[in-house]
Amino acid sequence: MKLEDRVRPQIKAMMRPQHGGDVWGKGEILDYSSNVNPLGHPEKLNEYIVQASEGLVNYPDDSSLTIREAIAERYAVAVDNVLVGAGSAEIIRLFPEVFVSPGDKVLMPHPIFSEYGFGCRLMGAQIIDAPLSEENDFRPDMSELIALLNDVKAVYFCNPNNPTGKMAAKKEVLELVAAAAKKETMVFLDETLLELSAKDAQVSCVDSIESYDNLFIIRSFTKSFAMPGLRIGYSFGNKELINYMNAGRLTWNLGTVEQRVGAQLMRNEQNHVKKAVELLESEKVRMYREMSKILPYPLPNTDSYFFFCPLYQLKVKSPEFRRAMLERGVLVRDCSSFGSPCENYSRFCVKTPEMNSRFLEALQETVESLSR
Ligand SMILES: Cc1ncc(COP(=O)(O)O)c(C=O)c1O
Repeated sequence: MKLEDRVRPQIKAMMRPQHGGDVWGKGEILDYSSNVNPLGHPEKLNEYIVQASEGLVNYPDDSSLTIREAIAERYAVAVDNVLVGAGSAEIIRLFPEVFVSPGDKVLMPHPIFSEYGFGCRLMGAQIIDAPLSEENDFRPDMSELIALLNDVKAVYFCNPNNPTGKMAAKKEVLELVAAAAKKETMVFLDETLLELSAKDAQVSCVDSIESYDNLFIIRSFTKSFAMPGLRIGYSFGNKELINYMNAGRLTWNLGTVEQRVGAQLMRNEQNHVKKAVELLESEKVRMYREMSKILPYPLPNTDSYFFFCPLYQLKVKSPEFRRAMLERGVLVRDCSSFGSPCENYSRFCVKTPEMNSRFLEALQETVESLSR
């Protein structure tokens, strides 16, 4: 038998998800393609890493107790409501391993972050897309999503959504959770992009986890502390749910350095996140105002700290726009991999005032060169 015939069919058909942040080998560029804290990581991060690297001769604490305690304290939940992973990416993978069986239907708005579909496809699930309306700037319509909940094992929701930047109110999200509960459908809620928004406290559903046994929420250190290179994600659910997730979790999934550094950041560096939120709030207003002067058409505004910019009237697709910006030293996200109609959009974030001025210059030059 050929190796090809021994592989699971889900693997043979698999396309790896694509992401932004592909800066390697590109020299000195400004990365606007990944949505991380514009202030970079906290000044003391390297100090925390050095302190954390003692005793690596031992295996990590498999229960990751210290970091889970720090997270539980920050969010005012019990330690048993918290599960951590090597980035939220690991937790995204674990969820369908625990809840989704081959042939199950899972529902997700489209476009949305690609890792959910990847994990579900690996488990042999059938993915039902609920297209977000382009005419309505991709605003989520909860009643449409709720209407599709029949016979669905899990529904995914990303708040704010990647790549569109649109946010649903807490009330709307909890309506989805309540409707899904009636249908015995799990809700996977991604709040990894919410923490850098001024609306975090008002929109987050973390304080509702003990009220619903079908609600599972992920968050991450990656964006808030600008550290994609260390892999630390975390999640919340009621205790029974977290128990089941924990049962399927990879052993020693979080290294000792990650556990210790994560606990320090959670306890000591909340101010760093707060400062970034203030900066992003003012800079996104300036970016929007300046981009509206540069682009020869109205730019849809964002609920988040990244823009999902239509390219139709520039008469380019996302890869060409990315190339043109990169020639001017700025990396933006080619959105083609999110599926149609995202090949007609580009995604880019907001950073510090100086960097944003350089971004705006590159945008001006790109728009001029494309309009010639
Ligand atoms: C919406 C969303 N969720 C989750 C992730 C995964 O992040 P990490 O594994 O670094 O926590 C990303 C990364 O781009 C993301 O954009």
